[in-house]
Amino acid sequence: MAASGFVALLAILPLWPILFLISARLSLRALGWFLQHKTRDRKAAIVARVERGRAAWREEQQSSREVEDGWENIDSAETARNGKPAQDSDWSGVVGFFHPFCNAGGGGERVLWAAIAATQKRWPNVICAVYTGDHDIDRGLVVATVKTRFGITLEEHSLVFLYLSTRHFVLASTYPHFTLLGQSLGSVVLAYDAFQLLVPDIFVDTMGYAFALAFCSYLFPKVPTAAYVHYPTISTDMLESLDDTTGQRGIHSGAGAGWKGKAKRYYWTAFAWLYGWMGSQIDVVMCNSTWTQGHIRQLWKPKNASSTSTFATVVYPPCPVEELEAKIQVTEESEKRRENIILYIAQFRPEKNHSLILRAFARYYHAATDKPRLVLIGSVRSNTPDEKHIYNLRLEAHELKVKDATTFICDAPFSVILEYLQKSSITTNGMYSEHFGIGNVEGLAAGLIPVVHNSGGPKLDIVVPFEGQPIGFHAETEEEFAAAFQRVASLDPQERFAMRLRGRKSTGRFTEAAFAKSWTEEMERLVRRRAS
Ligand SMILES: *[C@@H]1O[C@H](CO)[C@@H](O)[C@H](O)[C@H]1NC(C)=O
Ligand SMILES: *[C@@H]1O[C@H](CO)[C@@H](O)[C@H](O)[C@H]1NC(C)=O
Ligand SMILES: *[C@@H]1O[C@H](CO)[C@@H](O)[C@H](O)[C@H]1NC(C)=O
Repeated sequence: MAASGFVALLAILPLWPILFLISARLSLRALGWFLQHKTRDRKAAIVARVERGRAAWREEQQSSREVEDGWENIDSAETARNGKPAQDSDWSGVVGFFHPFCNAGGGGERVLWAAIAATQKRWPNVICAVYTGDHDIDRGLVVATVKTRFGITLEEHSLVFLYLSTRHFVLASTYPHFTLLGQSLGSVVLAYDAFQLLVPDIFVDTMGYAFALAFCSYLFPKVPTAAYVHYPTISTDMLESLDDTTGQRGIHSGAGAGWKGKAKRYYWTAFAWLYGWMGSQIDVVMCNSTWTQGHIRQLWKPKNASSTSTFATVVYPPCPVEELEAKIQVTEESEKRRENIILYIAQFRPEKNHSLILRAFARYYHAATDKPRLVLIGSVRSNTPDEKHIYNLRLEAHELKVKDATTFICDAPFSVILEYLQKSSITTNGMYSEHFGIGNVEGLAAGLIPVVHNSGGPKLDIVVPFEGQPIGFHAETEEEFAAAFQRVASLDPQERFAMRLRGRKSTGRFTEAAFAKSWTEEMERLVRRRAS
């Protein structure tokens, strides 16, 4: 009897991994069910509280409007869009935003707040819940800061903060070894922490925690997920840099040698595979640039196999284009005030390759008749090699005999940047394979003509033809940069002005409005799935 049982077990040996996977999935489902059940009352309480706040707010709005316009003019928020309600605009679920570091104030935060604002506008009855590890934040204060800092208006009464207590699990310092894997698994713990506070109806991550999103879809198959990816956690570039012998491929250059290198390669390859699997569980993927999209498409597969072509769309983060357009004019008048200045806004760091721009400028300068100027504006991180770096750049300018024609400005206030955006002619960048280059977007919005490195984001995303015509130039070598500077200077003034206008118009791609539109379109797919 026992023997035949043993034989039966052996017979199903090849099935064991499958059985294991099935039981793992079932356990996750069960855990998900348990979490949903456990947090049901809390969710109801949060929803009720938000609805009370919202009702009070609307009443207040309405009575102030009645005083202003009389009775006729009362329209609900839903009908504000083109006078008729948009489809599903009364959807009223909870959208959870996973954002453990919500007060960090960088570019990633701008995306979070712009995304929340767009979501609130499209679905006025939605509740946006932000899972954060910052325990000391006050909702009113956050709303006010976001307004002054980014110019983004949030609906305070539909915003909820939920406080995570296990944030140390995603800090790199928690994992001296196997940092990538440690942080990724840590984010699963953090996601569990989040779900036992509240299970959302839609789950969104804008900080790159793919594992947390995948965990969500295993726990709650009904909860659609979205990722906004700034940067892949691991990329094929990283894997390739292990074999590099030139030392120019970043901090991991050549780390693939020896047995340690071999182990590292296995670890990274395995991690890339795991990352790919996790990423493939996500319903909607947005990337902040073509560069990121390229890497994500290499590693992740769409969950819905029939949507390969629309998988991982590029949604540019909102840049302060509208503000620059309001502050800087591009007219025949302003054209007369522009000088032949080449402007490079970038941190003073070696990879920005200021040296290449300096040498190209010197070449151009010594051949030019109307003496051009080069203005380098950037931040210098104190107590870092940056200080030495800028010193060397000044020396180089001296040696190249362009010292008097070159201006270095460290840590310039915004007013100074504005002044140079107003009076310069060219915006440039010398870095190889820059991921984006917001400085060039700002330059374009201010009417400068870009001469940028023929690689990375400046080539793929920013300096691309608009309405079938060029808006700037690409260059790679010192000679090519010098020639491009010369070319802008020798353009027919009418043509140059037309190019400025065209470039400025092309920055419509990077506005807050463009971001809100694309974000809303992607979210609509999730809401349709959730509501169906
Ligand atoms: C995308 O995010 C990465 C990482 O934060 C950043 O380096 C890059 O500039 C971003 N791209 C855009 C288009 O903002
Ligand atoms: C998969 O994608 C196709 C095409 O984009 C779409 O028509 C279909 O509804 C999607 N299926 C699911 C389950 O989302
Ligand atoms: C700067 O550009 C030159 C010319 O393309 C290149 O040879 C050099 O390696 C670059 N330097 C850095 C630090 O990227």
